[in-house]
Amino acid sequence: MTASIIDGKAFAANLKEQIAKKVKFLKENHNLIPGLAVVLVGEDPASQVYVRNKNKSTKAAGMNSYEHLMDDDVTEAELIAKVTELNNDPAVHGILVQLPLPKHINEAAVIETIIPEKDVDGFHVINSGLLATGGNGMVPCTPLGCIMMLKDKLGNLSGLDAVVVGRSNIVGKPMAQLLLKESCTVTIAHSRTKNLAEVVGRSDIVVAAVGVPELVKGSWIKPGATVIDVGINRITKEDGKTKLVGDVEFAVAVERAGAITPVPGGVGPMTIAVLLQNTVTAACRQMGIDEPA
Ligand code: GUN
Repeated sequence: MTASIIDGKAFAANLKEQIAKKVKFLKENHNLIPGLAVVLVGEDPASQVYVRNKNKSTKAAGMNSYEHLMDDDVTEAELIAKVTELNNDPAVHGILVQLPLPKHINEAAVIETIIPEKDVDGFHVINSGLLATGGNGMVPCTPLGCIMMLKDKLGNLSGLDAVVVGRSNIVGKPMAQLLLKESCTVTIAHSRTKNLAEVVGRSDIVVAAVGVPELVKGSWIKPGATVIDVGINRITKEDGKTKLVGDVEFAVAVERAGAITPVPGGVGPMTIAVLLQNTVTAACRQMGIDEPA
């Protein structure tokens, strides 16, 4: 069996189109323009690319984008003061502090400063707590994008065996919570898991988010399973050129899975689209407006 390829790029483009329609409606009917503020500290090239793309996509959807660039040597107090200023700015409905932050800054302290209603990353403990207890908070973008693609592909996920490989606060843990909410039987696997091959081999859904190139071998995949690869790893090939690979050994997995996301072009494009969606949701909630369908 050769898997169908889940086209994240097309899925994200479609989602962005729907978001642009919602933004137009909010502008015309409620005089509301959702605003997203992104704070970037330092000059990490990968972060600069992310932030540039976020800025471009936010504007393309008709929303306001505010970029705040801060020097590498900014103090924690200065960064917290910036976040507080954005908390108090009524034009800003979503705040994203690009991670990672320089080592001298306590990331958790900065994230906990963002008011939960504007935490469009869903990283604040209040939002992770709400997710874990069935509440209605902001949900982290990448896992939410993965769930959207899974539901689109499989419909009802109830009763399916799912494994999440990776236990980060950003992807692994919220992903597991979202799958649980869909009534999957969820296993969280990680670097210390015994017999990962066996755990993966019994799973109808595999979400890989460990950041280790091709850790999940294609031969482990249960025939017909749905595979979501969150990993984006740049590796150097034998000829010295580099290429992007996921956390799943795609070339073999594609021959066993029922459906699989490619890298690049799978989960990656979904993250920014969901961030825009979260910003619209945040803006509507803050203004007491029903979100357009
Ligand atoms: N760095 C890489 N991905 C992300 C993300 O989704 N949110 C934030 N805040 N930083 C990131």
